[in-house]
Amino acid sequence: MEKNILPEERQGEALKLDFLLEKKEAKKLFVESYGCQMNFSDSEIVAAIMLENGYTLTQDYTIADAIFLNTCAIRENAELRIRKRLTEFRETKRNNPGLIVGVMGCMAERLKTKLLEEEKLVDVVVGPDAYRDLPQLMATVESGQKAINVILSKDETYADISPVRLSSNGVTAFVSITRGCDNMCAFCVVPFTRGRERSRDPESIVQEATQLFQQGYREVTLLGQNVDSYYWAGGGLKKDNYTPEEQSKAVKFYHLLEMVAQINPLLRVRFSTSHPKDMTDEVFETMVKYHNICKYVHLPVQSGNTEILEKMNRGYTREWYLDRIASMRSYMPEINISTDFITGFCSETEAQHQDTLSLIKEVGYDFAYMFTYSERPKTLAERKYKDDVPEDVKNRRLNEIIVLQRANALKSNQKDVGKVFEVLIEGTSKKSQEQLFGRTSASKVVVFPKGNLKKGMYIQAKINDCTSGTLIGEVLEVQHQL
Ligand code: SAH
Ligand code: SF4
Ligand code: F3S
Repeated sequence: MEKNILPEERQGEALKLDFLLEKKEAKKLFVESYGCQMNFSDSEIVAAIMLENGYTLTQDYTIADAIFLNTCAIRENAELRIRKRLTEFRETKRNNPGLIVGVMGCMAERLKTKLLEEEKLVDVVVGPDAYRDLPQLMATVESGQKAINVILSKDETYADISPVRLSSNGVTAFVSITRGCDNMCAFCVVPFTRGRERSRDPESIVQEATQLFQQGYREVTLLGQNVDSYYWAGGGLKKDNYTPEEQSKAVKFYHLLEMVAQINPLLRVRFSTSHPKDMTDEVFETMVKYHNICKYVHLPVQSGNTEILEKMNRGYTREWYLDRIASMRSYMPEINISTDFITGFCSETEAQHQDTLSLIKEVGYDFAYMFTYSERPKTLAERKYKDDVPEDVKNRRLNEIIVLQRANALKSNQKDVGKVFEVLIEGTSKKSQEQLFGRTSASKVVVFPKGNLKKGMYIQAKINDCTSGTLIGEVLEVQHQL
């Protein structure tokens, strides 16, 4: 079976620190992140807080004074992987009894004190809204006690904290614009682990993106569980908390997109994740207006069957979803679209699964993340429905979706052969030191000969060949030197 590297399944990446010298006298922190881009972005906030408080960062956990795992709880597998990692640290702790092991992020929030009880080697548990409390929590642990803070907040956005860019290529960066989620999709644990949705002050977002541009970054991805519900009216709460006058001046997602796009035409803007029920034509109009807003949308559908969508509490029908796709394509015929699918949700029949397959054919996605349904404690589905599709059926359906989607991805790349694209160079190709790679506006990866080119430059590349995952190109013209 094809194994996609999913944003949600990035596996325990340790930070890369080309730019931070390890200070000998300071305590050393090792951070490993799992899960979605928001978690990776949070690790950068945690790194900033810890650096302010006497820690330095290390890439070698065997010499660390503290190990933090930033965890994901989205599927059972994600949690199993983290438990396995924790048992691996048992040995490290045996050799170094002073070592502090911390669990942060979504699994910390979901399991709370249970983590301290079950995993005897965990010293500190911190939920996603409690990172400012880390210095106090660490002091408690250093005095010999266990420490925990999993309080969720209505307004924490860490707006004033300048993230320390970890694992950075120096060209692309994530900028958080909302936290939490109010949608309550029946299968999803995120509203329980990340709390209520709140938006971040647009000024602080524009300021962060501007600074990134000044530091040489050329692409920002605006992050939120549902970026389309971004709303700022002097505060980042939901609309009904504000007076009609405040509401009339509110900054919505498409306004924010425009503000970030105006920073500089050489700063590409991406965003993730869009929600089909909230994505308006105003967003498409703004995308058309600015060349530097990338022509790529990740629009998770989950299922092609309206009854299942209703049961999932997604807030749209198959027809509504298809209308959003049609509208997007009428504004931007060249747009690339990706999605997420869940197979074998509670009571899904063979006919309902066929609707997902037919939707895949109808839309012709350029890319997709595909999962089998994993029941999560406390969710609406766990309380109300039976997880009654057998594992082998879920897997067979997943395979059918993967096969169909793989053919779509190849078709999508084949239709790009012969065309010329603007590419932002991101770094050296994984396969060859002599090749560089970059992305098109539509988020396709292009590899091409290195020549005298450097990351951060824009080039025009002609596509000569492709695989199902990569476009193979030649450089026609260098557009912007550094
Ligand atoms: N906020 C985003 C998704 C966040 S989770 C959105 O609404 O689209 C990323 C993806 O994980 C989801 O789109 C879904 O496809 C998958 N997912 C979430 N919960 C899951 C579960 N319980 N079992 C399997 N896949 C799940
Ligand atoms: Fe989960 Fe739905 Fe929120 Fe996405 S929109 S994070 S799937 S509850
Ligand atoms: Fe996982 Fe939490 Fe993200 S559950 S997918 S790390 S929001």
